[in-house]
Amino acid sequence: MNEALLTVKGLTRHFGGLAALRDLSFSVAEGEIVGLIGPNGAGKTTAFNVISGAIPASAGSVHFAGQDLTDGPPSRVVVAGLARTFQATSTYPDVSVAENVRRGLLSRIRGSWANRLVGRRHGCIGPAQLEDEVQAILAMTQLSRWSDARAGALAYGLQKKLGIAVALAARPRMLLLDEPAAGLNHEECRELGRLLRSLQAEHGLTLLLVEHHMALVMELCHRIVVLVQGAKIAEGTPQAVRENPAVIEAYLGAPDYAHA
Ligand SMILES: Nc1ncnc2c1ncn2[C@@H]1O[C@H](COP(=O)(O)OP(=O)(O)O)[C@@H](O)[C@H]1O
Ligand SMILES: [Mg+2]
Repeated sequence: MNEALLTVKGLTRHFGGLAALRDLSFSVAEGEIVGLIGPNGAGKTTAFNVISGAIPASAGSVHFAGQDLTDGPPSRVVVAGLARTFQATSTYPDVSVAENVRRGLLSRIRGSWANRLVGRRHGCIGPAQLEDEVQAILAMTQLSRWSDARAGALAYGLQKKLGIAVALAARPRMLLLDEPAAGLNHEECRELGRLLRSLQAEHGLTLLLVEHHMALVMELCHRIVVLVQGAKIAEGTPQAVRENPAVIEAYLGAPDYAHA
């Protein structure tokens, strides 16, 4: 496997007396798809919040592409090439699909206020390239057909895709996806799987995926990290994780797992 792109070491996060993350360590190699799974409240979203710089760690470190990103801020993390999607849809419902992507691109436009604000130097584009880049991102996420549609009017599966498109507008090397399949029907879920696979295989993206939909996780991920009560209890191939008694006991065997 390639060298690690993301390395998380000893990550710990307290909320008052609650340890939402306890000494979490793992790494993700360039080009890998890694799953982060565990029961509700295990600390998966907290891990994303700390890695993306949205909240500080209580202890531990986050390194990405040779940079220490432990203390964020989020804009620096994105400029370094690490972008995320959110558990809830987070697009502007009243503007078009293309406009959502365009807004996601602002910080990459050379000389724009947003560009100066985040201090981005790599991956910038001139104003003349903006529309081509919007179209490229829409094509990458198979949303070109809905370019002019109002985002809020899209079917839920397409809104989730748009969330991914907006994250991709930053042209990241790695994407953190928080429950992208939640609320999707069977066909939308298959479509999402195809999209994530193509982002990795055709566009070279590295993915860290938080997801309860086990069929999707098992099919897509090269490796899986299992969190329970903030701590890593297992890590390995989908098959090894599926057969791990501690994982079955704490998560996969739980009665609510099938529809979680
Ligand atoms: N901002 C916060 N303030 C207080 N407690 C929080 C906060 N965010 C998360 N928690 C708590 O941390 C634990 C982990 O939550 P979370 O990371 O959202 O879990 P998951 O995404 O795995 O379901 C939960 O007990 C949750 O209530
Ligand atoms: Mg969560």
